[in-house]
Amino acid sequence: MALRLGDVAPDFTAETTEGPISFHHWQGSGWAVLFSHPRDFTPVCTTELGAVSALKAQFERRNVKVIGLSVDPLAEHHRWKGDIADVTGHALNFPLIADPDRRVATLYDMVHPNASDTATVRSVFVIGPDHKVKLTLTYPASTGRNFHELLRVIDSLQLTARHSVATPADWQAGEDVIIVPAVSDEDARSRFPGFVAKKPYLRVTPQPAGAKAEGA
Ligand code: BEZ
Repeated sequence: MALRLGDVAPDFTAETTEGPISFHHWQGSGWAVLFSHPRDFTPVCTTELGAVSALKAQFERRNVKVIGLSVDPLAEHHRWKGDIADVTGHALNFPLIADPDRRVATLYDMVHPNASDTATVRSVFVIGPDHKVKLTLTYPASTGRNFHELLRVIDSLQLTARHSVATPADWQAGEDVIIVPAVSDEDARSRFPGFVAKKPYLRVTPQPAGAKAEGA
């Protein structure tokens, strides 16, 4: 069955390019991004893995570990690494799960038979320190992901986990946020002094301190 927001991200053991892992133990007490790509030695995937490697420091700054997965064997992952560095200028710097028997892909519903019987789609799971799924994305094989957008949503997830706020459309870290409807006006006056009510249900306030902006 498909994983839903709030579900515990299933634990598993797997071989990766950085050695065997037990997923929850590997994640530790921080955040994790688990993402699948269709196959090794494919063009879009090559650009994606270089893009994520280039952003590793941005993920680390947010206390997020990143791990990729495809249904190819470990030896293929290692062989492909050279191409990723060659084409993108960024050496692979995070683990890639080798899942030739599709055990993990099945656990996370990453194979969508009406898209492809054999390859994983481009799934993304953002997993919180409590090992629960906080966000999912699914892209087709033909569309590479925007990993800056992934950092943006992680900023929102981490901010809204700490404060009673939500983030508006196209929000970027550092911009104004919305006070959640569950907070009464009376509470809002003490917790978010000076907030602006654009409508009774749409109250805007500066971003509370603590969230990190991309590049900060
Ligand atoms: C790619 O990564 O380029 C790709 C993989 C499978 C189908 C289409 C594109």
